[in-house]
Amino acid sequence: MDKNIKRLNGQRITDEELSDRLAVLDRIVVKHTRFNELHEAIRECHVLQSKSLNKKGLCILGDTGAGKSTLFKTYESFHPRETRVKKINNQTVTFPKVPVLRVELDSNSKPLNVASKMLEELGDPFHYKGTEKQLTTRLKGFIEDCEVELIIIDELQHLIDTDTQRVIRKAADWLKQLVNDVNLPIVFGGIKDDASRIFSSNKQLDERFPYKPSFPGFKYETEKEKKEFCTFLNSIEFKLPFPDNSELADPYLSEKLYYASLGIPRTLNHLLYHSTKIALKDGMDRIEERHLQEGFDQLSFETRPRVKNPFHGKVFDLRVAIASEKLTKSTK
Ligand SMILES: Nc1ncnc2c1ncn2[C@@H]1O[C@H](COP(=O)(O)OP(=O)(O)O)[C@@H](O)[C@H]1O
Ligand SMILES: [Mg+2]
Repeated sequence: MDKNIKRLNGQRITDEELSDRLAVLDRIVVKHTRFNELHEAIRECHVLQSKSLNKKGLCILGDTGAGKSTLFKTYESFHPRETRVKKINNQTVTFPKVPVLRVELDSNSKPLNVASKMLEELGDPFHYKGTEKQLTTRLKGFIEDCEVELIIIDELQHLIDTDTQRVIRKAADWLKQLVNDVNLPIVFGGIKDDASRIFSSNKQLDERFPYKPSFPGFKYETEKEKKEFCTFLNSIEFKLPFPDNSELADPYLSEKLYYASLGIPRTLNHLLYHSTKIALKDGMDRIEERHLQEGFDQLSFETRPRVKNPFHGKVFDLRVAIASEKLTKSTK
């Protein structure tokens, strides 16, 4: 593999070089099969409905860390903003053309916060001023002026972090009204069970989103699933800031990497980030299993208290490891 990356050959790495190489880990985006399928679903939602009277939305629900936000950011980056100059009352004003308006909701968002966040994204200097009604009215005006074509609302579950039915119903009503009024294609993203509750409280909203594809993490049971995960590992390997191959996709390591991450790209990224740092500080030109072992120990596994470090230099059986983790859990 020739990636034209300077060899360290055991030499000490400078802090600058180290931070440059670690920054690569934040930028790795692999266009894997599910990523491409969902990217195409968003594209179709965006471009194929311009002549439809009642626009349908798309709701992508998935595991946390599977890659929803990465997908949305990638789609947005393909449709960059432009600056437009308009004459209003003989005055020249500039404002952005925003083909894709993407917002990520903060925890405990209310409709007022959503409207405010969208206005902020569209450059409204007074996005924090006004009642829910005023902000929503202003938002509709901004959406038109900025020639928005597609709206992406990510982390939808934060609109219903609370459990009260009244709040959920109110949020669903507000969304339904917004969807009807702007009549643009809208893409929602969120965590599966949490975000889908919003649709059960409003039938009309639900009908506007007939397609709710899922975006799960990788699986590792069938040959096809194994191949997909290994292809993903291979693509990441190719982008890692090392000149030599770490053989991550080799069955010996791929099974261990699957166990460590359970197929969730975010966990895998964290593991590789720590392991890369350790290997580079060691002056190495590839990741070795001992770096993964140390990197693994730096992760926090709040939801997997009985997880065991699989990077012990010995052959590993994924089935046995998963079963024994479950077994210890159920006999707790
Ligand atoms: N397609 C991908 N290629 C490489 N890494 C990815 C990809 N998708 C996600 N990741 C990694 O997982 C992390 C979490 O992804 P994110 O999109 O925030 O997940 P979600 O929004 O589904 O919770 C990203 O920061 C990135 O490190
Ligand atoms: Mg996200």
